[in-house]
Amino acid sequence: MNVPLLALDDGALADRDDFRRDVLAGLGALPRAVPAKYLYDARGSALFDAICELPEYYPTRTETAILRDCADEIAKLAGPGCALVEYGSGSSVKTRILLDAMPDLHAYVPIDISRQHLDATAARLRNDYVGLRVDPVSGDYMALDALPAGINGARRIGFFPGSTIGNLTPDEAILFLRRARRLLRSNGALVLGVDLRKAPQRLHDAYNDAAGVTAQFTLNLLRRMNRELDANFDLSAFAHDAFYNEAEGRIEIYLRSLRDQTVTIAGRRFVFAAGERVHTEYSYKYDNAGIAELARKGGFSIAHTWTDPDRLFAVVFLK
Ligand code: AVI
Repeated sequence: MNVPLLALDDGALADRDDFRRDVLAGLGALPRAVPAKYLYDARGSALFDAICELPEYYPTRTETAILRDCADEIAKLAGPGCALVEYGSGSSVKTRILLDAMPDLHAYVPIDISRQHLDATAARLRNDYVGLRVDPVSGDYMALDALPAGINGARRIGFFPGSTIGNLTPDEAILFLRRARRLLRSNGALVLGVDLRKAPQRLHDAYNDAAGVTAQFTLNLLRRMNRELDANFDLSAFAHDAFYNEAEGRIEIYLRSLRDQTVTIAGRRFVFAAGERVHTEYSYKYDNAGIAELARKGGFSIAHTWTDPDRLFAVVFLK
């Protein structure tokens, strides 16, 4: 399961306190917003996996095809005996493409906020790659400042696929890169997946699929609030609202209220006017100049860029 790195363990009590605090603050402020990381409870993660299989959602299959084509070149640029440090879940097909191309890896270090997910991933990979050292690190990649001592001495190669960087604002993305630069050290590198700018209709369709799975994914946030925060959202009274903002180069996703309504969440009442929106996600798209700027501001330079023939998606090797 390719669970984005911002995922939380479903139902954990401390997480629920954070969820309540962030929802009450986000819905109490203007413009209203709920942080995107809360989209990924167990059902949200399963829905995201389903999104990755949709005909309209090109990023996953395009990035996977690029990685299959360039894995040997990535392995060559990384060099022998390095440690592969993955930001987010490590159980996906994409990880295995790199692991297959790097048989002499010193260690594989998946970083994820979910301990449960990490343990399952580590067990599977140790079983499938006999002799591979798997050193999972549980924590928030944004706050992490150390990696396991066992990988000291090995060149650190970060791996941040899926264009998850696009869910950060450009400022947050730069902050992420600076932290990654520090964690991976000056001789390290980062393999980054980035969704590219393209015809708006193609982008629009990727976030407004005909089967309505992306809509279910967004609306699941309300379902989660009902379950975990004792809220009483009527899911049929809100709509998934996603569009491409060309000036900003980003997909914007909202929950739109379909009528005037009052909802109770964790004992507090919130009034939603018909048409009012709650922001749930940004998904930034970059062009080559934008990627180069991001890399430079993050303390990296681009060693190589691979794209698909239609230039939908890019995999970049930053050093
Ligand atoms: C996880 N992330 C890269 C996805 C994206 O494309 O921004 C999340 C997503 N939201 C709706 N569809 C996909």
